[in-house]
Amino acid sequence: MAALFGSVLLLVCVHESQALDLLSATATSGDAPPVPRVYCWCASYPNVTTCSWPEPSPSAPARYIATYRERNNQESTKECHLIPPGPSSSSYEQLWRCHLPNLKLLTDYIINVTAVHSSGSSSHLTSFMLEDIVKPDRPVDIRVSPHGPRKMLLEWSPPPTWTNMNILPLKYHIVYKWIHRGTPMLVNLGPFENTRMELRGLTLGRTYLFQVCAEELLGLGERSDWSLPVNFTVPRPNH
Ligand SMILES: *[C@@H]1O[C@H](CO)[C@@H](O)[C@H](O)[C@H]1NC(C)=O
Ligand SMILES: *[C@@H]1O[C@H](CO)[C@@H](O)[C@H](O)[C@H]1NC(C)=O
Ligand SMILES: *[C@@H]1O[C@H](CO)[C@@H](O)[C@H](O)[C@H]1NC(C)=O
Repeated sequence: MAALFGSVLLLVCVHESQALDLLSATATSGDAPPVPRVYCWCASYPNVTTCSWPEPSPSAPARYIATYRERNNQESTKECHLIPPGPSSSSYEQLWRCHLPNLKLLTDYIINVTAVHSSGSSSHLTSFMLEDIVKPDRPVDIRVSPHGPRKMLLEWSPPPTWTNMNILPLKYHIVYKWIHRGTPMLVNLGPFENTRMELRGLTLGRTYLFQVCAEELLGLGERSDWSLPVNFTVPRPNH
């Protein structure tokens, strides 16, 4: 029977700093479904961890089995609760997701996502430690208002999904961009712990584009994506 399964094992060299180590990707036959491309992140340290992978199209839809366990404890294997892609009309990739509740701190985990077809199966095994995959969602509700001559106030709200703000605060980075004689210019500021910032020395009549991102205060994991940009044109004084 074993001869029926040509096994392909890819062991990928991983960079030390890579938060998610690919342990192996395996397919059990030539017709097996593609190995799921799994990405895991923790949007609210320590207890909102999600892994997701795209549903490959146009290949036939597969069934998935997702399990996770502590790396040093075979016995701790649990099923990850699967959430199929929602009905979506957009051209975005259809994403499968699964939630990993109540992970232990400072512990290596292994997640095994297996796509199963009638023709075979393919597994993606990755290892991660919660602290390395922290990635807040982006800040929301970016507001800009005039705040005196050539000054303005930039305000924003933390990502609503980051639930432990009192114990685990975030810090923020700002970028603002403008065009000067056809050349794109940008200024990066931060980190700040406040959710508002006064900006001075702006040019009257010029349009600036602002974005904010969030990072765990101690620098765990990585920064959020940049918020959606907000434009502001510095008003010229009325004579
Ligand atoms: C996260 O865990 C803490 C403590 O275990 C709990 O109080 C809190 O409700 C949890 N939050 C979520 C969103 O599950
Ligand atoms: C991954 O999960 C699949 C499906 O449960 C299982 O057949 C396979 O043995 C697992 N791989 C490893 C290395 O544990
Ligand atoms: C902001 O303004 C720039 C230039 O004025 C424009 O190209 C861009 O589309 C605007 N962006 C948004 C989000 O309004």
